Amino acid sequence: TKIAVLISGRGSNMQALVEAAKDEDFPAEIVLVASNNPDAAGLEIARAAGIETEVVDHREYDDREAFEEALDSTIKLYGARIVCLAGFMRILTPWFTERWRDLLINIHPSLLPAFKGLHTHERALEAGVRIHGCTVHYVRPEMDDGPIIGQAAVPVLHGDTAETLGERVLHAEHALYAQCVALACSGKARVAGERVRLQVREF
Ligand code: GRF
Repeated sequence: TKIAVLISGRGSNMQALVEAAKDEDFPAEIVLVASNNPDAAGLEIARAAGIETEVVDHREYDDREAFEEALDSTIKLYGARIVCLAGFMRILTPWFTERWRDLLINIHPSLLPAFKGLHTHERALEAGVRIHGCTVHYVRPEMDDGPIIGQAAVPVLHGDTAETLGERVLHAEHALYAQCVALACSGKARVAGERVRLQVREF
């Protein structure tokens, strides 16, 4: 399956997907890394790995619709069938999310439906949860919402700060994202209603 990865910054999750895709058994090929931000550090990582990159700078478009149309045609130009958001910091409108319904995947640094939005590690610490983590899910029009493909739990440790906790969650994200993209691209994680039906023995 040809996939596109959308980033806005550092790109460590994208990099984890790139690493995973080097395995010939990985059921996805990254045909494009696209960023709305021309300065995203992840673009360099992708180029160094020999992957095609594109910048679709939202500031060059009159409105969200025009930006998303450009993004949509760029993705199609490369023949991508599945789109992975990896630290993509633009909110996508229902026009885009419905166009890519059940083909658009996101990673979020919390155990959804807890802590949607930003600053998840600070908020998890503030709430006093003992288990935090990350979620990979199909995207629906509402932010950080949609059928869950997989989650990884990360215990909150004594003395954790948002930074130390965030680092451990990020580490878990890298493994989880690759696993979930493999499930989605091999057809083993299909949307049925508003849930994902997994066709695996154990996960
Ligand atoms: C990750 O924590 C991801 O879950 C969130 O944004 C961050 C992106 O980091 N959506 P990176 O660009 O993948 O390093």
